[in-house]
Amino acid sequence: MSTVFPRWVNRLPFLMIFIGGGGLFGVVGFVWYYFSPWYTDVGYAPRQPVPYSHKLHAGTLGIDCRYCHTGVEVGQHATIPPTQTCMNCHTMIRPESPRLLPVRESFATGEPVEWLRVHKLPDYVRFSHQAHVQAGVGCVECHGRVDQMEVVRQTKPLSMGWCLDCHRAPEAALRPPEMVTVMDYVATAPDEGARLRAAGQIEPPTHCSACHY
Ligand code: HEC
Ligand code: HEC
Ligand code: HEC
Ligand code: HEC
Ligand code: HEC
Repeated sequence: MSTVFPRWVNRLPFLMIFIGGGGLFGVVGFVWYYFSPWYTDVGYAPRQPVPYSHKLHAGTLGIDCRYCHTGVEVGQHATIPPTQTCMNCHTMIRPESPRLLPVRESFATGEPVEWLRVHKLPDYVRFSHQAHVQAGVGCVECHGRVDQMEVVRQTKPLSMGWCLDCHRAPEAALRPPEMVTVMDYVATAPDEGARLRAAGQIEPPTHCSACHY
């Protein structure tokens, strides 16, 4: 045997495990990176059935977020507005616009516009807008400058680590609750967040059952 095969062949199985193992780690690393929420969700901006622009409506026209997202202070979901909300203006403004055709059709038939969902947590996570908005966490902390977006896109990973980073140190994210929809809000003093936290006894939970069923 030893004359047919050189000695190093005895080490071949080890080499194969080593190289194969490296390959496996490579695959795990690849999957871990590419399927982590940083890679898959941030930047997600589906094309909507109507070219509705937050930049125009919330930015230029200055319509408050709560005019359309009526659930945000009182419920789990911020809610997407019904067609009636759009028609409050668009029976008069641009009533003939082809870009608003799906909205007029929806109004005539009673079938809602089929808006595509942008942000989505897994079903096993518990999350409520009300708790955050009433504690004084602005929309911008979790959704970015929506008032500058033609098309809404996800700007934060919505991962567990992201939730916990803020829950462990929420000061930087706090403002007076009446300011939550002001997208360019700046703190009036460097210690404002810390003061608001103390005054409101704000203690975001970090135990598992707070966020998991
Ligand atoms: C005139 C009504 C209107 C106003 C005002 C408005 N929105 Fe919206 N918003 C919509 C509609 C319609 C959608 C669904 C279509 C889309 O995603 O663009 C939406 C979608 C969103 C989404 C994505 C929802 C998802 O599917 O995950 C976010 C986040 C959002 N709005 C935040 C805001 C913020 C923050 C403000 C205030 C700066 C605001 N909106 C003001 C009508 C409005
Ligand atoms: C602490 C982070 C956080 C804050 C603050 C926040 N959101 Fe959200 N928002 C989320 C998450 C997470 C989702 C996805 C929820 C889900 O999948 O159940 C979401 C979803 C939405 C949606 C889609 C519909 C829904 O409710 O699921 C809209 C619209 C929205 N947010 C608007 C707003 C507006 C307007 C504000 C400010 C008044 C705001 N959000 C503040 C994290 C936040
Ligand atoms: C407070 C009034 C108001 C509300 C409410 C409103 N809009 Fe508008 N919208 C406007 C104005 C003003 C314009 C700009 C018209 C112009 O450029 O002449 C506009 C423009 C548009 C355009 C572009 C039309 C074109 O021909 O370029 C679309 C699409 C649109 N809105 C969709 C919506 C949708 C969808 C909703 C409901 C979620 C909505 N709007 C709610 C006032 C409103
Ligand atoms: C930018 C800061 C911030 C982020 C990001 C954030 N939270 Fe919070 N969260 C808070 C604050 C502030 C409170 C309010 C604590 C209080 O009132 O004592 C809170 C409260 C909660 C509560 C308790 C609600 C209740 O009814 O008592 C839950 C559950 C929660 N958050 C889940 C989440 C989840 C899930 C995520 C990620 C998807 C998230 N949070 C992201 C700041 C944040
Ligand atoms: C502040 C809210 C929050 C708390 C507290 C929290 N989680 Fe999570 N957790 C999340 C969110 C949000 C996700 C979804 C992440 C995603 O979609 O990638 C998640 C995902 C998970 C997953 C799925 C695997 C993964 O990483 O995607 C497991 C397992 C999990 N959490 C276990 C725990 C355990 C155990 C605890 C307590 C030590 C805990 N969580 C506390 C918010 C929370």
